[in-house]
Amino acid sequence: MVATGTYKDILASNSLTAQYLNETLKIEVPKKRRTSKYSLDIIGARENNLKNINVSFPLGMLTVITGVSGSGKSTLVKKIVYPALQKELTGFGDKPGQFTELKGNYSNVKHIEFVDQNPIGRSSRSNPVTYIKAYDDIRALYSKQKLSTIRNYAAKHFSFNVDGGRCETCKGEGEVTIEMQFMADVHLECETCKGKRFKKEVLEVTFADKNIDDILNMTIDDAIVFFDENHVTKIKTKLQPLQDVGLGYVTLGQSSSTLSGGEAQRIKLASFLGKGNTKETALFVFDEPTTGLHFHDIKKLLKSFNALIEKGHSIIVVEHNLELIKCADYIIDLGPTGGEYGGHLVASGTPEEIVKVKASETGKYLQEKL
Ligand SMILES: Nc1ncnc2c1ncn2[C@@H]1O[C@H](COP(=O)(O)OP(=O)(O)O)[C@@H](O)[C@H]1O
Ligand SMILES: [Mg+2]
Ligand SMILES: [Zn+2]
Repeated sequence: MVATGTYKDILASNSLTAQYLNETLKIEVPKKRRTSKYSLDIIGARENNLKNINVSFPLGMLTVITGVSGSGKSTLVKKIVYPALQKELTGFGDKPGQFTELKGNYSNVKHIEFVDQNPIGRSSRSNPVTYIKAYDDIRALYSKQKLSTIRNYAAKHFSFNVDGGRCETCKGEGEVTIEMQFMADVHLECETCKGKRFKKEVLEVTFADKNIDDILNMTIDDAIVFFDENHVTKIKTKLQPLQDVGLGYVTLGQSSSTLSGGEAQRIKLASFLGKGNTKETALFVFDEPTTGLHFHDIKKLLKSFNALIEKGHSIIVVEHNLELIKCADYIIDLGPTGGEYGGHLVASGTPEEIVKVKASETGKYLQEKL
C-alpha cells in the first residue's frame, strides 16, 4: 500500500498516482503536431448511424477519433476502415459495412492491424517470450551448451510444447488441473517437476550458471542485463521492445492467460516494435486502448505509439481519455450525440483547431488540457 487517505493526503504522498495528480509527473502536450501529405479517405460512410460522411485519415501520425458513446466511432473503424482496407490489401476478410469508396494516396500502407486487449494465448504454455519469438533463440542457446552436446539435446528438449525435455507428468505446464464437478478447476503444482516444467536432466544444463527454469523466472529487466553481460546480443535485442512498452517487470515465463488486457495489448505492440524498420508500413487501429491503464501506463503507451510512428507507421485510435486525446496530431470528432442523432462529423483537425469548434463537446473538455 503506497498511499491511503483523503484526496489531500494522497496529493502529499509520493505514490505514482499522487505524482500525476500533483503534476510532479506529467503527460506533456507535444510541442508540435505532425503533418502529412498522405491520407486514407473514406467516402460515404453509412453503416449503423453514420450519416453518409466523408472522413480523411492522415497517415504517418497519431489520429484520434473522439465523440460521446454511441456516436459511431467503433462503427467507423471496426466496420469500415479495418475491413475495407484489409480486403483491398489482402483480398480476404469480413465484408465491410456500408460505404461508397476508399480514396487517397495510401499506397505506402501494406498492412492493417487491429490491436485489441484480447488475451495473446489461452494455453499456459504461451508466454511473453514465445509471443515475441525470443524463446526460439533461448532454446537454441541452451542446446549449444557443452552438456547438451554430450547428451545430444536439441533445441526441442528445451521446449514445453513437445515431448523430449519437458516434464512428462504435467506436459510442461508446471501444474496439473483437477476438474471439480460444479466448481472451478483446481490447479496444483506438479509433484514431479515441482512447477519447473522440465525433466531434472534438462535442468542440469546451464548457461552462465542459470538453467532454463531460472531464465523463465527472470523479469524482462533482469534478463536484458543478464544476456547483455553474457554477450548474447541477439536475445537482448529481442527482449528490448518488451521493456520499451513498460513490461520490464513481467517474467519471461509468465503464462499468457494471466496477463491483464492492457499487458496483452502492449505485448502485441512490442512484437511490432521488434520487427525493425521496414518500407512496408502498417496502419494500426486501436479501440479505447487506455481502458484499465494508469497515467503512467498511458505515458508508456504513448511512447510506444511514437516509436511506431518514427518507424513510418500510422496509428488510428478511438479514445475518450483526454491525456491521450491532447497528444493527437489530428482529431476526428463524431457526434453530436449518440444513436440516431449521432454519426455526423462534428469537427476534424489538430487539437488546437478542435477547441475552436463551438459544436464540439470534446473541444470544451480538451480546452483545459492545452
Ligand atoms: N450491429 C448493430 N446494429 C444496429 N445498430 C448498431 C449496431 N452496432 C452499433 N449500433 C448502433 O450504432 C451507433 C454507433 O455505435 P458505435 O459505433 O458502437 O458507437 P461508439 O463506438 O462511438 O460508442 C449506436 O447507436 C449503436 O447502438
Ligand atoms: Mg465504441
Ligand atoms: Zn511437471
